[in-house]
Amino acid sequence: MASRAKISIIGGGGNVGASCALWASVKELGDIVAVDIPQAEGVVKGRMLDLVQAMSMERSDSGVLGTTDYADIAGSDVVVVTAGLPRKPGMSRDDLIKTNVAIVKSVSENIAKHAPEAIVIIVSNPLDAMVYTAWKATGFPTHRIIGQAGCLDVARYKAFIAMETGFSTEDINALLLGGHGDDMVPLPRYTNIAGIPVSQFISDERLNEIVERAKKGGGEIVQLMGTSAYYAPAYGTIEMVEAIVKDKKRILPCASYCDGEFGINGLFVGVPSVLGAKGVEKVLEIDLNDDEKALLKASADHVAELVDVVKNLEPSLA
Ligand code: NAI
Ligand code: 2OP
Repeated sequence: MASRAKISIIGGGGNVGASCALWASVKELGDIVAVDIPQAEGVVKGRMLDLVQAMSMERSDSGVLGTTDYADIAGSDVVVVTAGLPRKPGMSRDDLIKTNVAIVKSVSENIAKHAPEAIVIIVSNPLDAMVYTAWKATGFPTHRIIGQAGCLDVARYKAFIAMETGFSTEDINALLLGGHGDDMVPLPRYTNIAGIPVSQFISDERLNEIVERAKKGGGEIVQLMGTSAYYAPAYGTIEMVEAIVKDKKRILPCASYCDGEFGINGLFVGVPSVLGAKGVEKVLEIDLNDDEKALLKASADHVAELVDVVKNLEPSLA
């Protein structure tokens, strides 16, 4: 990696993409290129110019460029994909598949052409199926294709625990597995507050309600504002980018390729992943009890169904 990382964001004129550019430049992670379609040229250029002006107050020296030209992503270390439609009230993430599979396929082909060495982080929904799409359409090795969902979903779970207990968010530690759907699997058994099991602070019944709220956390925001969330999804994405460009070896819940881990074969599903300069450097196969295994299996089965829909829509990705 060059001394200064290059981070490109495809769909960078949209809400999640522009928020990724904001968090990445506030953290001064490298030079940022936000790409969008010609119809959104004014928006992507305008949003990035606005950001450049904000960064002169933040005193961040990240370069920031808005563009519609894929040639500008050449040499990227990381490419984030937020291109695609977000859901509206009443829609599930799965309802987006037909439109977004075509978008993510064409975006991925452009990434393979212009930034063939990049690590790719997919954000577009339905997340796990779009990660599969990007894998097939780029032809990249599995450790360089990762999906962002778990960082967001676990952050929602941790935020609700902090709200419930009044303790600092800094001290809430938790883990979550599975796909980015309402069947995701937060793990109370792996949740603690400053090392103390969460069960010592919150009853099982109340924790169950918090788990349910976290699982439906995306829908709650869509109902409130008519489109999907962006500050937290972007923050989760930039946590992953930071782990990669700083080679931090962080353990983050990411949609990573499973090759037999947890009994899952040939699918990208949310699992604890070690992120560093090579992308996903290891999937950690932690101990699960029978109930947790059953929940993860149900979530992975749902991801497999969505991947079948992708294969039917785009036989070239089978
Ligand atoms: P948005 O509509 O604000 O932005 C999407 C951007 O993609 C627009 O600027 C649009 O012009 C651009 N775009 C469309 N087709 C493109 C193409 N072929 N090439 C390049 N850019 C293209 O939507 P928002 O809110 O930013 O959401 C983006 C995606 O992220 C949605 O699919 C949404 O469901 C997903 N999402 C995923 C989350 C996750 O945790 N994985 C969380 C939040 C949103
Ligand atoms: C979210 O969870 C819609 O995936 C998006 O906010």
